[in-house]
Amino acid sequence: MVQVQQSLGPRTTTILGVFVGYIALCRGLRYLRRDRNHAQLPYKTREDFKKMTAEDAWEIVRSFQSLEFPWMTGKALAFALFKTYGIPSISKLLCATQQLGHVEYAGRRFADTSLLIIEFLGHSPSSERANSAIARMNYLHSRYQKAGKISNDDLLFTLSLFVLEIERWVRTYEWRSLTPMEICALGTHWKVIGDAMGINYSELRHGPSNFKDGLEFFEDIKEWADEYERRFMVPNAYNHQLAEETTRILLANIPGPFKPFGKNMVAALMDERLRRAMLYDDPPTIYFKTIKFTFAVRKLFLQYLILPRPYALRYDPLSEHPDPKTGRYHTNEYDSEPWYVKPTFFTRNSPLSWFRWALGGPYPDGKHYKPEGYKIFELGPKKLETQGEEECKATRDRLIAGNRGGCPFAF
Ligand SMILES: *[C@@H]1O[C@H](CO)[C@@H](O)[C@H](O)[C@H]1NC(C)=O
Repeated sequence: MVQVQQSLGPRTTTILGVFVGYIALCRGLRYLRRDRNHAQLPYKTREDFKKMTAEDAWEIVRSFQSLEFPWMTGKALAFALFKTYGIPSISKLLCATQQLGHVEYAGRRFADTSLLIIEFLGHSPSSERANSAIARMNYLHSRYQKAGKISNDDLLFTLSLFVLEIERWVRTYEWRSLTPMEICALGTHWKVIGDAMGINYSELRHGPSNFKDGLEFFEDIKEWADEYERRFMVPNAYNHQLAEETTRILLANIPGPFKPFGKNMVAALMDERLRRAMLYDDPPTIYFKTIKFTFAVRKLFLQYLILPRPYALRYDPLSEHPDPKTGRYHTNEYDSEPWYVKPTFFTRNSPLSWFRWALGGPYPDGKHYKPEGYKIFELGPKKLETQGEEECKATRDRLIAGNRGGCPFAF
């Protein structure tokens, strides 16, 4: 011991001490925030979960999505959307409407779909914006529902993925899993969204309306989705076409020569059933190992070396207020094409923009991709851009009047 002490010297010992202290601080603060958030809420036991309001559920979900796991939940949501393309009845319709299977539409469709989802996840269930976004989504779905092209199962399965993939990605790759209370909030939150979409839950174990709480809803939807996948996630050429287009969007920021690696990475992130359904071969083992290793290192870094994200740096891709002159909203986030991004000095000159420009990809140039922003009731396929405003307004007002902020399990 004495030997070691001497060879290290006082300076090294100090540095070591500071380092160990820092590690303890990072880890301590991370769990402190989790525990403090939980302590402040009246949902301590399973009995309490029953009384969780949609408003509280939304706050809890938003807190872990914007502060604790913004990157992972963003990827999980994108992946959830991607996974629906493994069901032929869904991918066939999306190909037939020509919105996703084609290069010239795919970017906008992806952007609009994401924005609608971000709008209703980012705002309270009683808010005008969240209800406008749900009303618009219902309007876009309704024409296909009436024609029998979107079934209740299609909607329920898509909803299930948004719930399940978030929980799974956090559990598999993050520095901690969601707590039962957070899972309950996730279930409660999406149950209420499904209600607003008119989804029929009668196929779930405690459906259509006998769920004890959000956690039971989560468990029921998991059981149902597993069975549904087993039966309906089957190989199909439409699945493949959509997967190809979407992968192209997801890999927009990867330089050409590296794209084949990127494609293999995407394939390695899929589970085996999804890979078969999308007609992809298994990538070489090294890709699975790389993913495992990378996420394991990331986990260690986050847990021990990175302080928790301060509230000021929370992830929030939507503009708080509409443009006062036009009433349009902007986003500052984009994947392949900078739809609705305001061409400010910063968005034009951000490192990402320069990188995109260098790769020959689109960046916020102030001319293309609607730099003037969006209105919620215009989102969706281009041919419907100017349609449905009155219907959407009526649905929104009906949803707001229905008070979606309360507890959905009070029966
Ligand atoms: C929900 O679906 C079941 C059959 O799966 C049906 O009996 C029931 O009437 C439906 N409920 C509503 C409100 O449409």
